[in-house]
Amino acid sequence: MSSLESACEQSSIQIDGLQDARRRFPTLERLAYINSGSYGLLGDTVRASLEEYMDHRVKVGADWDLWVDRAGRVRDKVARLLGAQRDEIAVTASASAGINALASALDFSGGRDRILVSNYEFPTSGQIWHAQARRGAVVEHVAEDESGLIPPEHFADRIDERTRIVVLSHVCYRHGGKFSNGSIRSIVEVAHDHGAYVILDCFQSAGAEVIDVKELGVDFAVGGMFKYLLGTAGIGFLYVRRELIPDLVPTASGWFAQDDIGAMNIFANDPSHTASRFEAGTPPVPSCYAADAGLGIILEYGIEAIAARISALTRYALDRFIAEGFPVATPVEDSSRGPMLTLEARDAVALVTRLIERNVVTSYRDGNVRAGFHLYNDRSDVDRLIEALRANRELLA
Ligand SMILES: Cc1ncc(COP(=O)(O)O)c(C=O)c1O
Repeated sequence: MSSLESACEQSSIQIDGLQDARRRFPTLERLAYINSGSYGLLGDTVRASLEEYMDHRVKVGADWDLWVDRAGRVRDKVARLLGAQRDEIAVTASASAGINALASALDFSGGRDRILVSNYEFPTSGQIWHAQARRGAVVEHVAEDESGLIPPEHFADRIDERTRIVVLSHVCYRHGGKFSNGSIRSIVEVAHDHGAYVILDCFQSAGAEVIDVKELGVDFAVGGMFKYLLGTAGIGFLYVRRELIPDLVPTASGWFAQDDIGAMNIFANDPSHTASRFEAGTPPVPSCYAADAGLGIILEYGIEAIAARISALTRYALDRFIAEGFPVATPVEDSSRGPMLTLEARDAVALVTRLIERNVVTSYRDGNVRAGFHLYNDRSDVDRLIEALRANRELLA
């Protein structure tokens, strides 16, 4: 059996198991939506959850206990998804807010001033770490090789006793290349041997890939809810390894970061003994409703089943792209790519627009067209994408 046939067969087995998922996302009745690396689709229970929030507002006005509880439910679910404890999860207003709170807690004095940033990073991550230059940090970048991957040795060669933190984006938002679990573990090992931390930005993978922060050994993990986690904008999370919490005191803080939120004490900063010390103000309540339901969908189907379905579908799509002679920008090995496939374009903006005219939704970054697959996609979406690309072949590189 060819690899294409076996991927098809595997993908149809997985798809059968999750077929009803498609019906829960009404947008798919019209659109081949392959854009979850930009924004995930609105699912039935997410919509219902947002409506519940609205209805309750109309009915009772305010219900702080319920709202704080909703943020707690998000915390629990993120912890389950990442293999962490609830005390290790901060619910933040964005991924940027989590990274900022963490950066504010790091000390760059005493010769520990280096920050090693991978070139897979989303702008916000690069920019926040560069902003630490005013606090004495020196940022160095680690680049991809010709194949588009960043081998772990590129980090091992650079990590030393001056390194405070190594910054990794699990899946690159520009081309979809991924740090394999083995790469992450080996980078973590070298970093820890030299007393450095590792943060993993999993915004482009959480909800689509199995991530076990304990198994990977990372110190911090950050992400948001509006892509593969099926929630909405205005909310993110930060995982902080339990052992590190007591010694990390963020200077970016607020009343929801205190040990006793009800203390209302303006005379001291008394940070929570949990990862909540990386939170700040009032939780993003409507976003908590959406995130709670979005995470609920992921946990309901199970991240293993979702990841397997996406992996089979992206393999099927990739093999079809290669057979068509399309210029694939994503590394082709299964362990080196995530849920997003990318193609080099002559004019990515024009191509994405032409695809939309055919009701095929993708997005672009860095001259590449990006197709981000999720549990609700199936081979019919791939077929529609390929047909639309064939009709606009001159816009591909
Ligand atoms: C990998 C990655 N990190 C961070 C962000 C931005 O996060 P936020 O806007 O929540 O700060 C994105 C957004 O697309 C992203 O893809």
